[in-house]
Amino acid sequence: EKGGYDYFMLKEIAEQPKAVADTLLGRIDEAGRLTLDEVRIPDHVLREVDKVVIVACGTAYHAGMIAKYAIEHWTRIPCETELASEFRYRDPILDQRTLVVAISQSGETMDTLMALRHAREQGAKVLAICNTNGSTIPRESDAVLYTHAGPEVAVASTKAFLTQLVACYLVALYLGQVRGTKWGDEIRSVIRELSQISTEVEKVLGTMEPVRELARNLADKNTVLFLGRHVGYPVALEGALKLKELAYMHAEGFAAGELKHGPIALIEEDLPVVVVVPSPRGRSVLHDKIVSNIQEIRARGARTIVIAEEGDEAVVPYADHLVRIPATPTLLQPLVATVPLQVFACELATARGNEVDQPRNLAKSVTVE
Ligand code: M6R
Repeated sequence: EKGGYDYFMLKEIAEQPKAVADTLLGRIDEAGRLTLDEVRIPDHVLREVDKVVIVACGTAYHAGMIAKYAIEHWTRIPCETELASEFRYRDPILDQRTLVVAISQSGETMDTLMALRHAREQGAKVLAICNTNGSTIPRESDAVLYTHAGPEVAVASTKAFLTQLVACYLVALYLGQVRGTKWGDEIRSVIRELSQISTEVEKVLGTMEPVRELARNLADKNTVLFLGRHVGYPVALEGALKLKELAYMHAEGFAAGELKHGPIALIEEDLPVVVVVPSPRGRSVLHDKIVSNIQEIRARGARTIVIAEEGDEAVVPYADHLVRIPATPTLLQPLVATVPLQVFACELATARGNEVDQPRNLAKSVTVE
């Protein structure tokens, strides 16, 4: 049932182009508009929403962090993303106009379930983004958007993450569509790009051999750092989480702007640092800032592993290893930038002799708080 792959994780990484296409299936009409009738929250209620709060754990939380950028940009509704395990304990401010989005692959994560129960008690509407039909979280929510990734068996989440991202973009774009914002043209063009994104993910998968080779060469390292900015920051966190859970290595993700506020002190000779570079076209200021971060850490001896868009020449002089990803709209970049990090972690785990599908101490769904 692993379909010829050594591990479910490898199979699930390879299934991502199809999974992403399946999340979109039937949700974009011929005119290029989103049709999310299955989300049974009426449009007039969505128009009234004045705050979005996303709750999730682990990888799903990283998807939620990215969703915040998308929702605030396309809808101008304030959005916060919070670890489900922290949420109810701080007595959050919620009411009928708050939309709470609970993201969960399994639909059984207790922390997330308790957070959404708390939200509903306060009168908030809850929308679940979930991969498992009929599981507890969607059953207890007001509405659900299924990710349709198919069963994910490996403990480390891969295709579920990419499809959670797509579902989050759909929610953000749909809210933008229903409410009408100044980004109408951008929303239409992003919907078009999103409908092509599965091909881009496929392209990335076809170029992963150098990433595997690099991972094998780093198998005896103790620490790997990950840097990113904007939506690349949660991608960096996700890359670090994958490495912790699979390779049992010390790995940390940082917002690159924080480097000089502390983490740069960690840089030493030959320390591998993965940098997720924003597009030079979109947020070009951020791009230039991150290029100087790469210069700074390299001058201090770091071994730089740079993930950058096709055609971004500015990074070339400072990259010890360069991983190319296709050009995408800024907010969609995580869909292509995460893939090399999944492959990297999987290969490192294999090289270190770890059990890829069942990492030590972890369970696929965490049903206790
Ligand atoms: O089933 P869920 O999406 O609610 O699970 C949340 C986390 O437990 C999960 O994403 C975990 O972090 C993964 N093992 C990460 O690969």
